[in-house]
Amino acid sequence: MIPTVRGIEKRSGEKVRFPKNRIWFEGPAAMFAVFEERLRKLPGYEKVRFVEAGEMEPGKRRSKKTESGVQKADGLQKGEIPEILLITAEIESQEPESGYRMVIGRDRIGITAGKMSELAHGLTTLFWRVCEMGGMLSCGQIEDRPVYASRGYLLDGSRHFFDTETVKSMIEQGALRKLNRLHWHLSDDQGYRVESRRFPKLNTVGSWRKEPDGTVYGGYYTWEQIREIQDYAAARGVEVIPEIDLPGHVSAMLAAYPELSCSGEPVEPPAAPGIYNRILCVGKDPVMNFVKELLDEVCPLFDSPYFHIGGDEVPKGEWRKCPHCQERIRREYLDGEEALQRWFTEELLAYLEKKGKIGVCWNETLKSGHLSERAVVQYWDEEGKGENYCEQAFENGRKCIYSFTPYLYLDYIPALTPLRRVFFDQPVLRGGRTVPTESIAGCEATLWAEQIENKSRLEYMAFPRLFAVAQRAWSGRTDYTEFQKNCEEQLAWLDRDGISHMTMEEADPQGEAQKRAVVLQYRRIIKNAERDGFANARDVLCGLVRSKLTGQFSREEIDDVVRQIKA
Ligand code: ACM
Ligand code: ZN
Repeated sequence: MIPTVRGIEKRSGEKVRFPKNRIWFEGPAAMFAVFEERLRKLPGYEKVRFVEAGEMEPGKRRSKKTESGVQKADGLQKGEIPEILLITAEIESQEPESGYRMVIGRDRIGITAGKMSELAHGLTTLFWRVCEMGGMLSCGQIEDRPVYASRGYLLDGSRHFFDTETVKSMIEQGALRKLNRLHWHLSDDQGYRVESRRFPKLNTVGSWRKEPDGTVYGGYYTWEQIREIQDYAAARGVEVIPEIDLPGHVSAMLAAYPELSCSGEPVEPPAAPGIYNRILCVGKDPVMNFVKELLDEVCPLFDSPYFHIGGDEVPKGEWRKCPHCQERIRREYLDGEEALQRWFTEELLAYLEKKGKIGVCWNETLKSGHLSERAVVQYWDEEGKGENYCEQAFENGRKCIYSFTPYLYLDYIPALTPLRRVFFDQPVLRGGRTVPTESIAGCEATLWAEQIENKSRLEYMAFPRLFAVAQRAWSGRTDYTEFQKNCEEQLAWLDRDGISHMTMEEADPQGEAQKRAVVLQYRRIIKNAERDGFANARDVLCGLVRSKLTGQFSREEIDDVVRQIKA
């Protein structure tokens, strides 16, 4: 099982059979339906059926809790192996917020947790135990608590649009490894992906782009699909956190409503990846009103108390030239354009707070100094040499979601980000300092989709590297050999579920093989990027290779790799 249990596991020595037919349950029906669906894929369990215990005949509940927590079954012949009759999953207010407790007795299994979502993780452990033990279970107790309450991954629906079945399939595969957050990146330059009834051109114009071969590509998620995905996720203990990236990465929005930028000039949603200079004009009041109305529309579509407002990679050139933005800077007594981004972020954080939401933003929002404590900051990187503007903020206890690029960006090929690197040790910042544990609210891997065109590529890039995130973020165990063994086992489960993945060798290249893979793959990536009109592809991508290999190879070795790519 990945992740392994972190906490106490006591076994009484007794065995109990997990039935293959009817099992009574008490607890959230949607979660038991998921459990049933998973079990039915196991040989012999095709007909297993969970039935609400409310329909149980009186007198059937023959077990009672004993002081040790293990239950007794009556009426068994000597030597007969007892069978589970009833599974209960219930919230108990004295239980901690994260993790669950499970008691496996002679005829009843009880799962308790402090929160509904955590019950799903308990049922997931039970599922894996049934798999591992071929339908037999050891009686006893498990108390399992994660290192990080939030363990997630980012799906980028903008660069490539994944249908609801793909999103659900990722949620299920993540949930089977107790990953409990889907960060859904729903808006970027290459496409706006949420149905908008208030601003229809976001869909008729902003959800579609022209590909280099002339075809039109895109789509968006309807409100019904968004509901369906969240219900699917909730039944698995997963929370969906939407991101509308602002005020940069907005070409798709500007294509629909060009008046939102400083110049007002028309743009088209680009197909090529990159950082685009055209951003929202936050100096104009109507633009601020637009953004707030958009939040009015999108916020209620999502159950999560968190709402991600982006804030990464915001080129400030347009703001410097724009009379409206400069007037805002003067009127608000701001110290330049970085402070203007902070002002914009604070406006949105306050607005979200009024709507009962906690804003999440990328670490660039800390650049101009103090950002109110109500924001959760997601740390991905600090661009530029010697940058360390995040260090102090995190040392002062600000909560961060840790997604540092060298370890957790799974959109990079494993030759740049091998499995063992994702299985990172202590969270560190670009400047080398460790993030204090109290500052870490969670850990999140990203699957940016510029180079991920479809479901099978998405899965291939995710697995098994996402298992490393699950293991480190829940169990915290650092035993890599044990993890590799568990990975092999989990890859077989992916095969059974028809999910693509890398082999362990592909996921974890080392030494000469790793360097060779970088050269071969980056020659191809650069060639394709140049063909697609990506400006400076060679320099940008070689710079990226350098940065990713730093810390993995010597300076000379990296120079040699880059020379070979360029040759
Ligand atoms: C990011 O990778 N631009 C957050
Ligand atoms: Zn402006």
